[in-house]
Amino acid sequence: MYIGSIELKNNIILAPMAGITDLSFRTICKEKGAGLVFTEMVSSKGLYYGDKATNRLTKIDDWERPIGIQIFGSDPKIMGYIVEKDLNQRDDIDIIDINMGCPAPKIVKNQDGSALMKNPKLVREILRSVIKVSQKPVTIKIRMGWDSNSINGIDIAKIAEEEGVSAVTVHGRTRDMFYSGKADWDFIAEVKESVGIPVIGNGDIFEPEDGVALFNHTNCDAIAIGRGSMGNPWIFERIQNLLDGKEDRIPTTREKIYMAIRHLNMACDLNGERVGVKEMRKHIAWYLKGMKNSNEIKNKINTVEEREEVEKLLMLYLEKEG
Ligand SMILES: Cc1cc2nc3c(=O)[nH]c(=O)nc-3n(C[C@H](O)[C@H](O)[C@H](O)COP(=O)(O)O)c2cc1C
Repeated sequence: MYIGSIELKNNIILAPMAGITDLSFRTICKEKGAGLVFTEMVSSKGLYYGDKATNRLTKIDDWERPIGIQIFGSDPKIMGYIVEKDLNQRDDIDIIDINMGCPAPKIVKNQDGSALMKNPKLVREILRSVIKVSQKPVTIKIRMGWDSNSINGIDIAKIAEEEGVSAVTVHGRTRDMFYSGKADWDFIAEVKESVGIPVIGNGDIFEPEDGVALFNHTNCDAIAIGRGSMGNPWIFERIQNLLDGKEDRIPTTREKIYMAIRHLNMACDLNGERVGVKEMRKHIAWYLKGMKNSNEIKNKINTVEEREEVEKLLMLYLEKEG
């Protein structure tokens, strides 16, 4: 499938996740079959003011491409400016995605993220400002609406199509649901019926079968996986296997532990040992989820600070339980 001029190897996508989809995790998901990966959301203002921490989030490796960088903000001028002066110059970025779904209070209080869905006029202005200058395909990621009384995802998707957006990712929840309840796949199907641009369905794919079911239920062009990929990058190739009529293969304990160690090493190389080890605690807990007697090792890992120590604990666990 194509998003604008960008060809994807398959249509199973890693959704953007703040604090999760950094270079190390994206590389792993790519290796395990994701057809497209996204950075976590990056502040357009942070880029505009040259903030170092913001810039670090945009570090990309050629290996993980094609990749979309996701930006958030609500100032059409600033967003257009950073696309024209910064992101256009970056040969390593393939797609520019605009966040219209983040429900976090600190984001929506600035009118960013899902707050944009309350302001279709501003959505149009942002898209016009960005698309006028962008040399790369522009996509958006939306929710159903702000709350159950203001479901307007279809209107927003239509505005996006009119303004020249190349694809829209639809998370089948409202802002006030945050991540609770069930994603409404019927709504994703309605968006797919309403616009001609590619629709990427998103929400509640936790098992490979869910991925196939979301395609079938909505007729969407691609699917994006968020939480279901945590500690579980195999989900991409497993969905592809099911789509290809091949047999499903569940990763072994050994594969999961080895992947956790690789991920740990990549995260430490990327962010330094102190930050890497800390950030990996949550990932390791996800890799170990459902494994027998893993509480003890998880607790121990949360107390050590050296990469080598974490690796030793994981190998010890594998010898004992694997
Ligand atoms: C920890 C976390 C961080 C997230 N960060 C982002 C983000 O930066 N940008 C975004 O568009 N969505 C973000 N999301 C939403 C996901 O991309 C996705 O839309 C949502 O989790 C529903 O998909 P899922 O059921 O497959 O997880 C985040 C979700 C989680 C759980």
